[in-house]
Amino acid sequence: MRLTLSPEWIPVIVFIFVFIFESLAGRDFYQILGVAKNANLNQIKKAYRKLAKEMHPDRNKDDPKAQEKFQDLAAAYEVLSDADKRKTYDRHGEEGLNRDSFGGSDPFSSFFGDFGFSFFGQDNREERETPKGGDVIIDLWVTLEELYSGNFVELVRNKVVFKQTSGTRKCNCRQEMVTRQLGPGRFQMMQQSVCDECPNQELVNEEKLLEIEIEPGMKDGQEQRIRGEGEPHIDGDPGDLVIKVRTSPHPIFERRGDDLYTNVTISLTDALIGFEMTIPHLDGHKINVKRDKITWPGARMRKPNEGMPNYENNLSHGTLFITFDVDFPKGELTEEQRNQIKALLQEPSKTKAYNGLRGY
Ligand SMILES: *[C@@H]1O[C@H](CO)[C@@H](O)[C@H](O)[C@H]1NC(C)=O
Ligand SMILES: *[C@@H]1O[C@H](CO)[C@@H](O)[C@H](O)[C@H]1NC(C)=O
Repeated sequence: MRLTLSPEWIPVIVFIFVFIFESLAGRDFYQILGVAKNANLNQIKKAYRKLAKEMHPDRNKDDPKAQEKFQDLAAAYEVLSDADKRKTYDRHGEEGLNRDSFGGSDPFSSFFGDFGFSFFGQDNREERETPKGGDVIIDLWVTLEELYSGNFVELVRNKVVFKQTSGTRKCNCRQEMVTRQLGPGRFQMMQQSVCDECPNQELVNEEKLLEIEIEPGMKDGQEQRIRGEGEPHIDGDPGDLVIKVRTSPHPIFERRGDDLYTNVTISLTDALIGFEMTIPHLDGHKINVKRDKITWPGARMRKPNEGMPNYENNLSHGTLFITFDVDFPKGELTEEQRNQIKALLQEPSKTKAYNGLRGY
């Protein structure tokens, strides 16, 4: 009997080979995170943070593969956010990575806190009955550059947490009414303190790395809540960590809403004959400033779309306002120079005293 390969089998065989090859090559972490091969760390963090929120299994209870997808995402993030692991992965694929050296880490909590899932609003009602530790509010000073382009700020949180130790302690204490029979037909009712026995706990210092996203256009004072990273509570959940974004003063730009303001000093010559210059923007791109007309002190130029990005809509930007100041030369001119300037400008003398109010 001869085995002949009929042409209709070829696509099937090709498919099988492709399938085997694909599974050997491992997962495509770039595709899982939806980022380009040359994505920088910020883009990778951003993609992870966005997808982790969408793909959390608590939010996708109908998808039987939700857990698996979420783990793929965590693995993709773990590898691509680590320069060494990423280099190995780029060269040898997932197979090249030592199985023991990755997997099992949960980056989710560094972005959303230990109780991150609870803000997806499953058990709000139960949550209110569980006692909660206090919230910790901290100011996070960021630069205007970070608020313009976005960034991730790493925050090492040193916090004390309750950890179980040996022995027990009284807990959940409450007052209960007990009835005691004193004799036939005689009872006594009294209040008694009743407690449960709980495992003993001790306070332990724990260090944790948190990733705080500074999104483009965030406002000064805007708050981000990280669940479960606040004060611990012995009988309940820890409180939240509230991160308040504060803007550090900038040497060139001042922000008001989504608009930016800056001042530029020019020479008297430039003020009269015109000039061209560039101002470096917050992300390094150059703003071209050009004038042919005469510029007077206090003149203001508008540059639409060169302000801050809008937080709600990152495609829309505020306006940049540039105010000019003219640096007059010091000293005295010669008689000849005075006459030259007079001849050049040919202005009638307008000297008059006034009180600065309009209408005079
Ligand atoms: C520009 O100059 C004005 C007047 O001196 C000052 O009030 C303002 O803060 C300056 N703006 C910036 C961005 O330095
Ligand atoms: C701008 O917003 C869109 C839609 O929300 C988003 O897809 C995109 O990644 C954002 N771009 C930046 C630079 O943040």
